[in-house]
Amino acid sequence: LIKILNDMEARAADEADWLGWLKLHEDVQSSNKIQRFADQAIASQKFDNLVLLGIGGSALGPQALVQALLSPLWNELSVQQRGGGLKFYCIDNVDPDWTEGILSQLNLKRTLFCVITKSGGTAETISAFLWARKALMEQLGAQWKDNMVAITDPQKGALRAFVQEEGIASFPVKPSVGGRFSVFSPVGMLPLALAGIKVDKFRQGLKAAYEELMDLNNLTSNKACQLAVSLYHADQKLGKRINPLMPYSSHLAKISDWYVQLVAESLGKNPQVGPTPIKAVGATDQHSQLQLFSEGPKDKLIFFLKVAKFKNAFPIPSDPVAGFTDLAGETLERLIHAEGDGTARALAKNEVPSLTLELSEINEFNLAQLLYLFQCMTAIAGQLYGVNPFNQPGVELSKKYTYALLGKKGFEHIEVK
Ligand code: PA5
Repeated sequence: LIKILNDMEARAADEADWLGWLKLHEDVQSSNKIQRFADQAIASQKFDNLVLLGIGGSALGPQALVQALLSPLWNELSVQQRGGGLKFYCIDNVDPDWTEGILSQLNLKRTLFCVITKSGGTAETISAFLWARKALMEQLGAQWKDNMVAITDPQKGALRAFVQEEGIASFPVKPSVGGRFSVFSPVGMLPLALAGIKVDKFRQGLKAAYEELMDLNNLTSNKACQLAVSLYHADQKLGKRINPLMPYSSHLAKISDWYVQLVAESLGKNPQVGPTPIKAVGATDQHSQLQLFSEGPKDKLIFFLKVAKFKNAFPIPSDPVAGFTDLAGETLERLIHAEGDGTARALAKNEVPSLTLELSEINEFNLAQLLYLFQCMTAIAGQLYGVNPFNQPGVELSKKYTYALLGKKGFEHIEVK
């Protein structure tokens, strides 16, 4: 493990490698630039809506953080209630009806589109970008560019060339930061800042996490190493390859989606080995997947996320007339804790192993620590498994086949079997 951590630290300095995410907290300049852009956009009062156009690592991180930090009815709140922050929408698929359903309802003149694609050429994202551009041009003429901001590679790719030529506002994603490791780059930070979140709080959390997890003197209490070794050991020695992530919080439900992509795309490289991550959410999935986790095949290692302190305890009213006395005097906070703790113990009784990670509360600092922890875990596990956690050849092949099936120029030689 010492060798792995040393190696990661050394590789983080190499801009041609893929560990640029390890020290994003050092990039204060980029963080300030993002904050300034967002503050100006909010202060201008020109926009009500932010529509993120992206997919995979270029959408899941911001969506997860938005859900974690903003009200579930954020888009229904008044501008005052939102503190000026923009409403948030995301188009991360090419479902024509879904896309039309969102875009036909928005006042595009008051909508800022944020197109995010590291490569600058992903079909799903570029098709949405082309649609948005056309619609904006129809309504705003030459001013359409004021309603678009791009996040992409600093030099490479079709989108970078286009934004440079057209003079569209843009932010770079360092070449050494891959999609699913990019949540704390402009990919995640700009949308959050436009929703009114101060991004420096994430940076502080990242810095603390880096100092803790890359400290070689405290290896035995290093959570990234513990999680990576647990995943590897459970899979290789105990045959427990299925790895549900089950946060007990609706606000953290999309963290599971983000986690599934991180682990699946990073570690799914060898037919013989590797964990299969699964999305779950407590307590909801106690009434769905838990039966399988508990008494189904003994092939699971479950990670729970517990929020120690919610913002609201939410007392449960006692209603003696109706006779619902069992829950009288309780709070939803105590109930969700009891459900999570009870489930972990019930699983243990059935010999299903689990680990619980506790967040003192949901805030920017803690979320940065949590997501960074999972990124480090994944990078370390990649070394244990002997796979490259930073590429995605299976995904690239599907991208090529898509263009080949559409008969696009340059892809004629690809035979889709
Ligand atoms: O993690 C990854 O690298 C991928 O999931 C990408 O984020 C995804 O394929 C989108 O790629 P891009 O940002 O180039 O549009």
